[in-house]
Amino acid sequence: MNNILRRGRLNKDDPNVLSYLSSMDTDRHIFTADLLVDTAHVIMLAETGTISRDECTHILKGLETIKGGGYDKLDTSYEDIHISIEAKLIEIVGEETGGRMHSARSRNDEVTTCIRLVLRNELLTLLHKLITLRKNMLEIAVENKETLMPGFTHLQHAQPTTLGHHLLAHHDALARDCQRVLGAYIRTNKSPLGSAAFASTGFEIDRERTRELLGFHGLVENSMDAVSTRDFVVESISVFANIMTNLSRLAEEMILWSCEEFGLVELDDSYASTSSIMPQKKNPDTAELMRAKTGTVDGCLMSVLAITKALPMSYNRDLQEVTTHLWRAAAITLGTVNIASGIISTMKINEDKLSLSANTGFSTATELADTIVRTTGLPFRTAHQIVGTMAQGNIHTLEELDRIGMKIIGKKLSDEGLDEELFKGALDIKENVNRRSTVGGPAPLEVSRMINDRNYLLVQEIDTLMEHVNNVQDGMKRLDDVKQSYL
Ligand code: ARG
Repeated sequence: MNNILRRGRLNKDDPNVLSYLSSMDTDRHIFTADLLVDTAHVIMLAETGTISRDECTHILKGLETIKGGGYDKLDTSYEDIHISIEAKLIEIVGEETGGRMHSARSRNDEVTTCIRLVLRNELLTLLHKLITLRKNMLEIAVENKETLMPGFTHLQHAQPTTLGHHLLAHHDALARDCQRVLGAYIRTNKSPLGSAAFASTGFEIDRERTRELLGFHGLVENSMDAVSTRDFVVESISVFANIMTNLSRLAEEMILWSCEEFGLVELDDSYASTSSIMPQKKNPDTAELMRAKTGTVDGCLMSVLAITKALPMSYNRDLQEVTTHLWRAAAITLGTVNIASGIISTMKINEDKLSLSANTGFSTATELADTIVRTTGLPFRTAHQIVGTMAQGNIHTLEELDRIGMKIIGKKLSDEGLDEELFKGALDIKENVNRRSTVGGPAPLEVSRMINDRNYLLVQEIDTLMEHVNNVQDGMKRLDDVKQSYL
């Protein structure tokens, strides 16, 4: 047998079983990362004297050749990319040299280092895309800080608000998502390398050096924890699931709002689909898929939680099954954030319909009850009953309201201080919104203030993102410089 992994301990293999064991397909994602890990590891081995400088140079040259050939030149009959790359290296430089690369490490620390390297980039890309989406939202929110629309509870007309205030609500949820992405990034960007199988190694290695060469911010210190935890994967997918949940709520609104009955927005043609039989149809398929893919990401999270629960220390092959769900959930989330950005920045807003709709369903009832309290001194609960009775009777005038007042409290509200002007003011939707100027409310001035604050914070968040991106790039540059000095 010439399989470099199995030839010692095992005498037999079966292609069907090997294929069942294999992670080669999913490992496509970590091809480049694995070469980086190999590079940092062999440089450290040379620096600490485990291999010679010459051996290091030969190995690094071999790794360059493998990199040039790409994933597709690898022998995919191996059970994973780590062993396939090692086999290829031995084929290129011979076992006397190539066979030294795996000294002082295991695939257990290797694979989790690779996952962390790829995931940290995905998280930074996601953060960048989320920031772009939030910027788009803030721009549309500014333009629509006075665009009146119905606010809903239970999907029933509740009180008037503005589209600016509504979009800001979505923005703020995504702002919290950004904080969560950053938290996941900080805990992902740690080096487990040097933990070997789980018990570290008796070789004189330098974990700090490989950490530095790979641009990680700190170590996953305990070597047993380092190889066996996938909590950083659970954390990232749960962050993805949260983002998807927030975006699916936006998607649901796009679907509802673009239907004939609502008619509040129209999606751009590029984000719509049509019917193969009904020529008139313009369907919000992108938003529907955003909604559906949320379920897929939730499924990834459930899978990873179920796979990792109750695994004994330390490495178990079950962990291999986790990784596919991670890349799947990450790709879906990144794609969905892009689509959401596109949908909202290209949609047509039907301002007339929005304001018309804001005026229906007696959405000013709360303000009328509040006005009764403020002008007549009645308790809110009593005003609530009076206005509720008014709504039930489909009543619109102060005169008729007075009749209800007589029935319920034996007094006319107009005798108690509620004049025609106050009555009309309470029923005016624009006035309703303007009066809600307390912190966080929909009054245009307050929405403006909130948008300004958020734009200011966004600039700081971009700085933080750039700092992390630069740290990663500096790390990669440092690794490449050291590598070049050996080539
Ligand atoms: N393909 C494996 C994974 O993704 C790599 C580690 C295998 N380690 C082992 N001891 N079998 O987890």
